[in-house]
Amino acid sequence: MSTQHNPSDIESVLHEDRMFSPSADFAAAAHIKSPDQRDALYKHSIDDPETFWAQVARELHWFKPWDRVLDWNAPDAKWFVGATTNLCYNCVDRQVDAGLGDQTAIIWEGEPFESASPEVRHLTYADLQRETSKFANALKSLGVKRGDIVTIYMPMVPELAIAMLACARIGAAHSIIFGGFSASAIADRVEDANSKVIITADGGWRRGNIVELKDKVDAACTQNDSIDHVIVLKRCENTINWHDEPSPDHGSKRDHWWHDLIDAASDECPCEHMDAEDLLFVLYTSGTTGKPKGIMHTTGGYMVFTYYTSKIVFDLNPNRDDIFWCTADIGWVTGHSYIIYGVLPNRVPTLMYEGAPNHPGPDRFWSIVARHNVTQFYTAPTAIRAFMKWGDEHPQKHDLSSLRILGTVGEPINPEAWMWYHRLIGAERCPIVDTWWQTETGGHMLTPIPGAVPAKPGSCTLPFFGVDAAIVNEQGEEQPPNTGGLLAIRKPWPGMLRGILGDRERFIQTYWSRIKTPAGEPYYFPGDGARCDQDGYFWIMGRVDDVINVSGHRLGTMEVESALVSHETVVEAAVVGMPHEIKGTGIAAFVTLAPGAQPSDELRDQLRAHTANEIGAIAKPDLIRFTDALPKTRSGKIMRRLLRDIAAGNDSVGDTTTLEDLSVLARLRQSEES
Ligand code: WT7
Repeated sequence: MSTQHNPSDIESVLHEDRMFSPSADFAAAAHIKSPDQRDALYKHSIDDPETFWAQVARELHWFKPWDRVLDWNAPDAKWFVGATTNLCYNCVDRQVDAGLGDQTAIIWEGEPFESASPEVRHLTYADLQRETSKFANALKSLGVKRGDIVTIYMPMVPELAIAMLACARIGAAHSIIFGGFSASAIADRVEDANSKVIITADGGWRRGNIVELKDKVDAACTQNDSIDHVIVLKRCENTINWHDEPSPDHGSKRDHWWHDLIDAASDECPCEHMDAEDLLFVLYTSGTTGKPKGIMHTTGGYMVFTYYTSKIVFDLNPNRDDIFWCTADIGWVTGHSYIIYGVLPNRVPTLMYEGAPNHPGPDRFWSIVARHNVTQFYTAPTAIRAFMKWGDEHPQKHDLSSLRILGTVGEPINPEAWMWYHRLIGAERCPIVDTWWQTETGGHMLTPIPGAVPAKPGSCTLPFFGVDAAIVNEQGEEQPPNTGGLLAIRKPWPGMLRGILGDRERFIQTYWSRIKTPAGEPYYFPGDGARCDQDGYFWIMGRVDDVINVSGHRLGTMEVESALVSHETVVEAAVVGMPHEIKGTGIAAFVTLAPGAQPSDELRDQLRAHTANEIGAIAKPDLIRFTDALPKTRSGKIMRRLLRDIAAGNDSVGDTTTLEDLSVLARLRQSEES
């Protein structure tokens, strides 16, 4: 890898002007080998998206070809109109039919590492075909039909992959809930999706402890009456409560062991022919207001987009010994797209790891890379910052020479963390792909292409094929280089969300109303601010709405505020982001208490526990400050900028956290913020 120093006379936010190009050998062996090739393909993808995406789609299997590639009536897109396909077929059966049934599809490693080696399982395409068929038949035996939404709340075990692929096999959509979410979060999502079946486990391993998933599901079932059946995988030999009684709407018992169901199931189950626009999954994500929204992704476009971004951005190649590892949990979109759906159709083994990066020691990830010869490694900046803190000796203990490409996702990466990743993990040899995208976009939108786009630390570089991105102002006018603005996407792309489940109005309001062309055509608005530099490289500046990004996970400040005010002692709460060394953004909460409630460390702990109970541990405030009143403008708006400054330590209000008089500061700031 060569280092060029570009003299830059333009004030850059990060003062970052280093550029890193792939080696000539790397580029020569990559799918996309040069900037010119990338530029020509990009031009084709923008000038004529339909022929471009049709060409990509032909690399996959369709039961019936499309009549039209795209039907665009903003904000509604239909891709591969009239075509039928099945994503489980493309992930699994297609490989078996091609005679590759005995090749490895999934490499799984469990967390416990007490003995000399951890538990490892290799599942071939034939294994997956048999297991997804059995489990699909099990789902059918409980009445699951095409079009239903099945909720999944599982640890990172192969059965999670089997469950989601089984749903896709029979045309049921899934709604996967990250295992860190609380019972009330499950209850809300189950109700919103009207799920009748939830799949869980007796526990999952995390840092040597058992995560009590079944307890949470039991509690969620008492909070709504939508669930008829709970399927429980035995993972931990954990003691759990069992509900044998029939559910109200169904004649059989409520709880079922996974192994009992599949023992009774046939291992033959045909893949349903799904319309390209049939719902594949719903995934809940936080927004600016109220409850999380169910982002809808459909079958054909999502399949083509995740397949192709996986292939090009990670340069996946089934004819090389590629082993791809994305460290995300499948409960987030990163895991959906880049552990399962985008990777398996590329015929490259995908690695799944169950547990924490620091169990039993801080070198666990590097031991996995070395033992399994991982070639592409994809993680989040927050993890990289934690690794930096834990010390260089941990990666240095292991042979990481199998690595070819490194990726990051979830939040902006600070150049210091980028350089550490480049040096310590990539040995200054592996291109780094900093991929900007969202739950809503389905797959990568702004990203380097490793053999063709030189990287700049901290920039997600250029738009992917077919992505027409721009920095605009509130009037939709494109901004000159190095001017901050709103990130906008001006054309539809195959992986785009098709809506918010049950809330058309919110879909239009959130994504399609803020930025329009002078002629009134809406642009997709992702909620991020960004700038473009003199080379056309994008630099994400962060959310411009009331959403904060904690360790690469999205949270609505309002969501945390409503969790806090649902506690009996809290009258009012304001939540803002604050800089955090590891998490990127931490959560700061300013809280006013009901008469009689006394500020104390104990109450602080209670409020943190309460937030974890309402949402999940990721929503626990890092800082809670009790205050007499929240600083407000004359019109009653909370002065969030002042709170952000206080939380960041930029505004001295003294150390007494009990009775701060924010009103003085508020008056000083009044003119600024009103
Ligand atoms: C938000 C989306 C995409 C999967 C993980 C998060 C931020 C994401 C980057 C990046 C800077 C990034 C954005 C985006 N984000 N990737 N490479 N550089 N910011 O998915 O929960 O839907 O969150 O994460 O703010 O809008 P998500």
